[in-house]
Amino acid sequence: MSNFKLGIIGAGFISRFHTKALQSVRGVDLAGVYSPKGAPELQALARELGVGDCVVHESVAELCNNVDAVCIYTPNYTRIEVMKAVTDAVKAGAALKGVIIEKPLGRTVAEAQILLDLAKEAGVPTAYFENQIHMKGIRAALAQMKPQQESMGPLSLARSSEEHAGPHEPWFWDPVRQGGGVLSDMGCHSIAVGWYVLTPHGKPIDFLKPISVSAETSLLKWGTKAGQKQLLERMGIDYSKAPAEDFATGVITFENPETGQQSKAQFTNSWMYDKQGMRLYMDGMGPGYAFELNTLQSSLQVFVGDEAADAVADAETALEKSTASRGLLTVEPNEADLYGYVDEIIDAVRCFKAGHDAFLNFDYGFEITRLCQAAYMAAERGVILDLTDAQVQEDLKTYTSLIAQGRGREVLHVM
Ligand SMILES: NC(=O)c1ccc[n+]([C@@H]2O[C@H](COP(=O)([O-])OP(=O)(O)OC[C@H]3O[C@@H](n4cnc5c(N)ncnc54)[C@H](O)[C@@H]3O)[C@@H](O)[C@H]2O)c1
Repeated sequence: MSNFKLGIIGAGFISRFHTKALQSVRGVDLAGVYSPKGAPELQALARELGVGDCVVHESVAELCNNVDAVCIYTPNYTRIEVMKAVTDAVKAGAALKGVIIEKPLGRTVAEAQILLDLAKEAGVPTAYFENQIHMKGIRAALAQMKPQQESMGPLSLARSSEEHAGPHEPWFWDPVRQGGGVLSDMGCHSIAVGWYVLTPHGKPIDFLKPISVSAETSLLKWGTKAGQKQLLERMGIDYSKAPAEDFATGVITFENPETGQQSKAQFTNSWMYDKQGMRLYMDGMGPGYAFELNTLQSSLQVFVGDEAADAVADAETALEKSTASRGLLTVEPNEADLYGYVDEIIDAVRCFKAGHDAFLNFDYGFEITRLCQAAYMAAERGVILDLTDAQVQEDLKTYTSLIAQGRGREVLHVM
């Protein structure tokens, strides 16, 4: 049987990560790429790793006509135009078996709705990539706790965080193009994984009903004079004019529709985590049992002393968003597997071959966008937002946060 042919749109950071992940996926080739920049380099990487020929195509339509499924790995502000091009290609005859999209589905609820509508118009199965739900560590924790959950009841508190020292490309820092700051960029991960681990075993992904959200968005590092100067020099982004939050935290309360039991997912995200590199941290408390996961606790450490530091390699070979290349380094040898990229690709391809949506589809991505935007709204209004309130539900449909409008100065502390 021939391999399933994946095509990637966009050839930046996450495309490279997923290309590495494909080394651990059987029966799938990276068959093609379309991207205004970086396509030849992605092709070279795919060939070097032996994961496919990765033919460079001249348009989204040409790519769609030569692969089984496409992955949208382009910046957030390009989502609609790219998905529209995919939908047009399918309507013109491209026989796609699936469309994959990276987080966030949209920068606002209205945008996410357009993405959902375009997918329905195309009539193709979808996958929304939320890698943390596919992490082997998370899946192993849930499997290990299944007997306790069945005898004692589900987890009632989850805490999730993703933190690093700041994104790699200027557009992430620009609140208008990205859709906000760290809450839009990484809050979606922590909200999703918190919701997931609280969900009783065997229940659907959206079984627990989110009933309220509280949140804070703050600018703690990159709004200082020194932070602004560094950001302007490194990224060309001016946080004295249009800042975004570099720290966000909040709590989502869920209700079990069968038992009425409430549970809470706390999320914390920052772009000001000046430690070794990116840290994903999750824990969960059930009655009489618990789990804790910390990706900075690797079984591998490398030490580079001052004497040897001149000869250091690219720091990011140790860890995503690595901030140091000497001292005691945490090294994660297979981050693509650790963070869940391998398993989300396996799931999507298996589901597409069977002719249906992946475990997490665009509808699920829509719910995550809605919760993320609800967190912005709660922070802006300074309230615990009641998600069961019809007016709040209505307001969310057309809401764009002040930060995402480029008006972050009205809600963030800028020095
Ligand atoms: N799941 C995760 O952990 C994770 C991590 C990083 C990024 N992401 C998401 O992946 C997406 C891409 O992020 P990235 O870090 O790779 O960004 P990036 O800026 O590194 O790369 C973006 C790529 O898209 C290309 N591109 C830009 N406009 C395009 C268009 N109209 N059509 C086709 N290609 C276009 C660029 O040339 C570039 O190659 C974002 O939505 C981001 O939120 C997810």
